Amino acid sequence: MTRTKKTTKADLKKIDAIIGNYRGQRWGLIPLLHDVQMAVGYIPPEAMPRIASGLGMFPSQVQGVISFYTQFYTEPRGKNIVRVCRGTACHVRGGKTILKLVKRELGLEEGETSPDMEYTLETVACIGVCALAPNIVINQETHGDLNPKKVARLFEGKRKK
Ligand code: FES
Repeated sequence: MTRTKKTTKADLKKIDAIIGNYRGQRWGLIPLLHDVQMAVGYIPPEAMPRIASGLGMFPSQVQGVISFYTQFYTEPRGKNIVRVCRGTACHVRGGKTILKLVKRELGLEEGETSPDMEYTLETVACIGVCALAPNIVINQETHGDLNPKKVARLFEGKRKK
């Protein structure tokens, strides 16, 4: 889905303040990126040249680090992150149906964020609780042994209108 949140002047001000904490210190790139993501929710592409110049690097170097680490996001994400497991154990116990139901409940495809910035839907390879398959994680909370009724209950009142 397309980006629905624009980087505001306030966001750029926050980012500039963070850059100020690491100015000229190339080693600080990763903690700086973490700080930016914590402050703004993601790393706006328009911030990359500022970050690069603040640290004395090329924008392509900053971009390279961001693309290497999966924990960095260059698109705004929802307040709630829903991760549906696509691992083998979940797959054989109905994970595909669970994914279909979650997509329907949220009105989102994988990788999309709702226009109101409430939800982002992602899939993961395995969340490490295969015995409870099929599983999903909403923010930090795991929900296992799912079936269509449980999925409907989890998203009650949160359906896309
Ligand atoms: S395969 Fe889904 S939790 Fe491991």
